[in-house]
Amino acid sequence: MAAVLLLAFVGCFFGHGAAQDTAKPHILLIVADDLGWSDVSWNNPNVVMPNLHTLATTGVIFNQTYCQRLCTPSRTALLTGKFPYRLGMQRPIRHKKAHGLPLDEELLPQKLKKLGYATHMIGKWHLGSCKWEYTPTERGFDSFYGYHHGGEDVDYYTHMSDGGLDFWEGKTAISDQNGVYSTESFATRAENIISQHDPNTPLFLYLPLQPVHTPHQVPSSYLQTFSTIQDHNRKSILGMVAALDDAIKRVTDALQGKGLWNNTLTIFMSDNGGDYLDGQSNWPLRGAKGTVWEGGTRVPAFAHGNMLERTGYTYHGMMHGVDILPTLVSVAGGTEDAGLDGKNMWQSISTGAESPRTEFVYDIDSRQDRYGIRVGDYKLIEGTPASKNDWFAPAEMQQLGTLTEEADNHDTGLFLFNIREDPLEKSNLYDAAEYAPIQRAMRHRLNELKPDEVPFPDLADDPAADPSNYGDVWMPGWC
Ligand SMILES: *[C@@H]1O[C@H](CO)[C@@H](O)[C@H](O)[C@H]1NC(C)=O
Ligand SMILES: *[C@@H]1O[C@H](CO)[C@@H](O)[C@H](O)[C@H]1NC(C)=O
Repeated sequence: MAAVLLLAFVGCFFGHGAAQDTAKPHILLIVADDLGWSDVSWNNPNVVMPNLHTLATTGVIFNQTYCQRLCTPSRTALLTGKFPYRLGMQRPIRHKKAHGLPLDEELLPQKLKKLGYATHMIGKWHLGSCKWEYTPTERGFDSFYGYHHGGEDVDYYTHMSDGGLDFWEGKTAISDQNGVYSTESFATRAENIISQHDPNTPLFLYLPLQPVHTPHQVPSSYLQTFSTIQDHNRKSILGMVAALDDAIKRVTDALQGKGLWNNTLTIFMSDNGGDYLDGQSNWPLRGAKGTVWEGGTRVPAFAHGNMLERTGYTYHGMMHGVDILPTLVSVAGGTEDAGLDGKNMWQSISTGAESPRTEFVYDIDSRQDRYGIRVGDYKLIEGTPASKNDWFAPAEMQQLGTLTEEADNHDTGLFLFNIREDPLEKSNLYDAAEYAPIQRAMRHRLNELKPDEVPFPDLADDPAADPSNYGDVWMPGWC
């Protein structure tokens, strides 16, 4: 009798809304831009990122986490929990094209808001801005500070892109950061958001920062460490990584100062691989940003936080950017939605258990004849992986004698790899007789998925978008 009463009392206590809300973890989701596999210290000791290194090695390093081959599709995957080929979001949105992430999708910040979170975004959107309905503060973010575009180069100091200013606080274009390095503007904004945050409300801070996307701009103080590296692009990228690392330290210090850090779950990942011709590096993986090779899609990533049951290890389970949404929604106390491609990875990553994910789609883009899927250990590519197919060593390794290797089969083709045995995609099994049954099964699976494709829209540039119509600002509201 006493036991029953006690249980009833406990149930009542934990059912109380306010008590649950304060226990919900704060969530810091950091997305680096074009940061390659070999642009992080845990994969390449030449990279200087002491703060991120400590977070990664005292958290869980993800060694088989994927996202899409480019910015817009990767951000679509992260914020919708769906593969972008199902939403017509396979490629970057360009400045003058009148489209955006479909408005009937409920995004991660909208879901977290319903679960009681304050939601703030600092950095790059790139999910559509031809009308305000597409932009962050109408899609679940309480506040936005950053830029809408990003397919083309955005200047780190002037915040201009292709002839127009693209820097916003909410819906106001701001010019007071002219001359301030964006990585530093964003760290300052994060400090302000954190210092003003009510600690009793769970915080979701989405930080899709600018580094290490081109152009090669970094305060010169960050270059001194890399004076022995001759390659200008590589040196700049390593400097930009060091600046990113300092910015992250400012954010985590602010969370610590506010007493939020011990209940913060941090997820860090890149949106896609780097471009080896721009000084980023995916070595030893094959290919680059923009390709469906492993170098374009297998991204450096980790999680950190007290709520992880097991830490200090490398997680080898398969994970994809689409899994971030259901995983964070579950951490925030929400329930799983039907119709998502993403899987709730929380139990797996927090204990090191097997991954619920067994397959994913690299891309289905019929208008560019690019198809790629992974099922179990196997990967099938049909058509055009894209244009950078080589194994390209970063400059500091080339200086030490590591040789870049050129692929002999270029541009289009049919490829089958066993990624577990051959993560570098060197041995194409497509025509090997003993793999014929696997090749057939993989093609069958791809053909089952193809009808779900919404083709990427084929749109002409709209002159109404031109920033000269709006005082040299990339103003939403023209579509
Ligand atoms: C991560 O995966 C790569 C490619 O399979 C492998 O070479 C590397 O050893 C793995 N890293 C760790 C720490 O297990
Ligand atoms: C976390 O920090 C807060 C504020 O400093 C403190 O009250 C709380 O006990 C800490 N919790 C843990 C689990 O350390």
